[in-house]
Amino acid sequence: MWHFRLWDVQDVAVFLGITLYMCHLARAISVHSPQRSFTRSVQEDVFFSVDITCSGIPTIQWTFMSGAVSRFIGTWQPGLHTNITDDYSSRVQAYDNGSMGLSDLRLQDAGYYVVTILEASGSSKDAGFVLKVNEVLYEDLQYLSVSALVLAGLAGLLMLTMWLLDKLYRKIVAWRRRKRMRENDATELQPR
Ligand SMILES: *[C@@H]1O[C@H](CO)[C@@H](O)[C@H](O)[C@H]1NC(C)=O
Ligand SMILES: *[C@@H]1O[C@H](CO)[C@@H](O)[C@H](O)[C@H]1NC(C)=O
Repeated sequence: MWHFRLWDVQDVAVFLGITLYMCHLARAISVHSPQRSFTRSVQEDVFFSVDITCSGIPTIQWTFMSGAVSRFIGTWQPGLHTNITDDYSSRVQAYDNGSMGLSDLRLQDAGYYVVTILEASGSSKDAGFVLKVNEVLYEDLQYLSVSALVLAGLAGLLMLTMWLLDKLYRKIVAWRRRKRMRENDATELQPR
């Protein structure tokens, strides 16, 4: 009898332990993100894709860090409220699963982005992302080549115009000479 009771106590302890562990798992925040490092060009967009699971409604907070600079981007609670700072409000898109879209990238956007998930219970979890922003060189080159093409076109047009004017001038000179010769012929022929 005593023997059985002991087992009962152990069973209950194991059951309780498993239950508590499951509860802990269920309560633990998880942040899943397919990609942590991004390279983009100026004026492009970036999408920091994350999918969070936690109990209750989380508070999602995004922060930017670069060197000594740390800038608060915004915070939101899915379905409740979204608060993006003025600096970012026009470029940031907030998603319920924690993801953040940042558009019209600038060189100064390069750095680290940290998402912090806060639960009502007080526990939290972070995930970091790296963003590199490249200058758009090919657009400058494109601009230069287009300018060169336009200039070459203008030069060609100018040369063509001058050639045509030259031809016209020669034609006029020749025509006037012929006219004068015809007049001379006419005066010579008059007496007949
Ligand atoms: C988060 O939600 C956005 C918009 O619905 C979706 O495009 C993105 O793939 C989601 N991210 C993950 C990791 O599931
Ligand atoms: C939004 O965030 C800023 C900065 O943390 C804070 O000063 C402001 O009160 C917040 N606004 C709302 C509506 O939560």
